[in-house]
Amino acid sequence: MNVPFPDNKRKANDLDAFWMPFTANRQFKKAPRLFVAADRMHYVTDDGRRVMDGTSGLWCVNAGHRRPQIVAAMRRQLDELDFAGTFQMGHAKAFECASRLVNIAPPGFDHVFFTNSGSESVDTALKIALAYHRANGNAGKVRLIGRERGYHGVNLGGTSVGGIGANRKMFAPLLAGVDHLRHTHDLFRNAFSRGEPEHGAELADDLERLAILHDPSTIAAVIVEPVACSTGVLVPPKGYLKRLAAICAKHGILLIFDEVITAFGRLGAPFGAEYFGVSPDIITTAKGITNGAVPMGAVFVKRPIHDALMTGPEDAIELAHGYTYSGHPLACAACIATLDVYREEGLLTRAAELAPYWEEAVHSLKGLPHVIDIRNIGLIGAIEFEPAPGAPGKRAHARFVEALNSGLLVRATGDTIALAPPLIIEKREIDELIGVMRKVLQSAD
Ligand SMILES: Cc1ncc(COP(=O)(O)O)c(C=O)c1O
Repeated sequence: MNVPFPDNKRKANDLDAFWMPFTANRQFKKAPRLFVAADRMHYVTDDGRRVMDGTSGLWCVNAGHRRPQIVAAMRRQLDELDFAGTFQMGHAKAFECASRLVNIAPPGFDHVFFTNSGSESVDTALKIALAYHRANGNAGKVRLIGRERGYHGVNLGGTSVGGIGANRKMFAPLLAGVDHLRHTHDLFRNAFSRGEPEHGAELADDLERLAILHDPSTIAAVIVEPVACSTGVLVPPKGYLKRLAAICAKHGILLIFDEVITAFGRLGAPFGAEYFGVSPDIITTAKGITNGAVPMGAVFVKRPIHDALMTGPEDAIELAHGYTYSGHPLACAACIATLDVYREEGLLTRAAELAPYWEEAVHSLKGLPHVIDIRNIGLIGAIEFEPAPGAPGKRAHARFVEALNSGLLVRATGDTIALAPPLIIEKREIDELIGVMRKVLQSAD
């Protein structure tokens, strides 16, 4: 007999029940945008249209969609071992996966803590920083420094060190003891920069200011994205990150690079840290770690931080932290297969080859209506619009919908359209992508 559920009147495809994340739910549900399939560079919509993926899903599908090697590895894994925890137990894939990850990490990063998302990686990194200082006898080092316009996910730690007002204001008071550096976005001096802008390295000295204000002995860590992507692609000024790293080293402040987007080849090097020639203390990752095929995150930690916590009796748990799904077998299988694809196809450095072509292509949109800045780095581009009077963000959202209707997925954030296609993109596809953007921008009101 069919037992009726209380809500059995709801249609199977009713849009109402799903409270969508970071979405204008009521607007979306009046005119939904749905994908039903994907392959390599393209999605397919529910009305059968092919849409080029100009944003690697949500900055995660670095090797393109539905790669057979990754899909097959995940299928095999599910047939073999669906779940095994990693609390006081283990399974081989988690260890293999961690070893593979540290092999491609920048020098010195020889330990990995698994999470399930960028947000969890960030909160894990902040907790490791606090625990590290305490273990070293510096229990007073508790302040966390973020940066205006930074995005570090949505958990309470990440929201607190994050610097996007709209993401913070609903959830006050957030964590105590947090402060922020100024952001580096400077249209007045740096508009239409190609790659790293010339001006603004001195903004790193904000950290000196905060160190004087709070006393460095109270500051545990600084967290920044090497390139602040979610807030409109803010490329760091030349020399800024090195200067920040030097100030951190001087004051014994841990430097955390949030590489949830920049890790795994987006800039043309395996990690942003290598691209910028800076060695932070902790690196947070997620997204491209499994090519977006299943949730996973990883926090990379240098040995001295790890070892500082490997003290006390051997039967004591050293770090009271972890997730049920830390090192989930399916995610580990996907990650290992993803790393194979990245290696076999040279994807962790391919963006470096494409970057000059990409830069020319993106900057060819200069001069189109309302465009006040174009930025690029690696295989990332951004087009910023003059805000529509009294309606910030509206222009970019309209362009995003028009691009989608013209067969291209882009990401609107504030008054900026961000572009970050899969790293497998070919030059003719870059031309196609930019061609669609040009048409969309030309017809803009
Ligand atoms: C730099 C950065 N940190 C953290 C996150 C949060 O990741 P997730 O959405 O997987 O929690 C993101 C997501 O875009 C990000 O770009």
